[in-house]
Amino acid sequence: MNIFITGIAGFLGSNLAYHLYNKNHTISGNDNFIGGYKDNLNDQFNFYKIDCCDYNSMNKALKNTDVLIHCAATAYEGLSVFSPSFVTKNIFEASVATFSAAISNNVKKIIFCSSMARYGSQNFPFTEDMAPKPQDPYGIAKVASEKMLENLSEIHNFDWTILVPHNIVGPRQKYDDPYRNVLSIFLNRMLLNKPAIIYGDGSQKRCFSYVDDCITCIEETIQNNNSSKQVINIGPDEEFISIKELADKCANLTNFNGNHVYYDDRPQEVKFASCSSSKARKILNYKTKFSLDESIQLTYEYIKKRGPKEFDYHIDLEINNEKTPQTWNMKII
Ligand SMILES: NC(=O)c1ccc[n+]([C@@H]2O[C@H](COP(=O)([O-])OP(=O)(O)OC[C@H]3O[C@@H](n4cnc5c(N)ncnc54)[C@H](O)[C@@H]3O)[C@@H](O)[C@H]2O)c1
Repeated sequence: MNIFITGIAGFLGSNLAYHLYNKNHTISGNDNFIGGYKDNLNDQFNFYKIDCCDYNSMNKALKNTDVLIHCAATAYEGLSVFSPSFVTKNIFEASVATFSAAISNNVKKIIFCSSMARYGSQNFPFTEDMAPKPQDPYGIAKVASEKMLENLSEIHNFDWTILVPHNIVGPRQKYDDPYRNVLSIFLNRMLLNKPAIIYGDGSQKRCFSYVDDCITCIEETIQNNNSSKQVINIGPDEEFISIKELADKCANLTNFNGNHVYYDDRPQEVKFASCSSSKARKILNYKTKFSLDESIQLTYEYIKKRGPKEFDYHIDLEINNEKTPQTWNMKII
């Protein structure tokens, strides 16, 4: 199959590209390098350095595509409260232009990577039958993109699946980004001999998904007719852990002895968030293969091998006021 992956230099996009290439698919993709790493790419992929918001270029690049997997996004939930224009443009506008270009090229199936942010702070674990209640610009832009996809399919007759990953970890993730990816930030900081920085008291809880456990769900979605026009949470729902406990695990693994450092809560951060994987088990034959400890270990090995890096404040804060985390406006991370 000819598969096009947007955001192919990113964490999920690149891991997916390698996996599907090894299953004999022809892989093309684009990226604008807002996030991701250039060396996540490989000559085996047909790469286009174009922005998803650029409809004309996307229209040319998507020729002969069978399946589009739309991974590109500014995946910055916390930052979206302070840079809403930048974050939502690269989610909503980017999605609409990409969907439009795909439809004009008669792409048969569009798989959209949404986010657990679509659920907001409803009772957990979140199930797909809950009405979306996003509580930050990132989640709002994801839900608006979902609605646009569903609406366009009613008119233009193509197949789609909305997949909902949460807290993915593993190799090829950007670990020098101060705005996101808590596990990678903790490990990178400890390898730099710096303590974990925790927002609030660290009692907020999450489940973490090893990237391969998400990729197998995406691969299954490509051909599984039962996934047609469905919203499906992907990744594990086991091992719900607090951020403080996660920092403790990282300290043990890296032999870091210092105390964690605590800052104010981040505005709009959801306290307890986990997604039920029951629907993925039923429809996509999902089974968790990587435990939390294995996921942390494999992420650690990747960062250690590549070498720890100082953090790069590569995105401007649009709103800098008393609510903006000091860790960002004073570049503390
Ligand atoms: N990583 C997670 O824990 C997680 C959780 C839930 C949902 N998701 C979603 O999964 C997808 C992949 O996330 P990721 O963790 O790999 O993020 P990532 O930042 O590593 O990858 C996204 C890629 O998209 C590119 N990109 C952004 N805007 C673009 C644009 N306008 N045009 C072209 N390229 C653009 C970035 O440069 C980056 O390489 C995203 O849609 C994200 O919202 C990720």
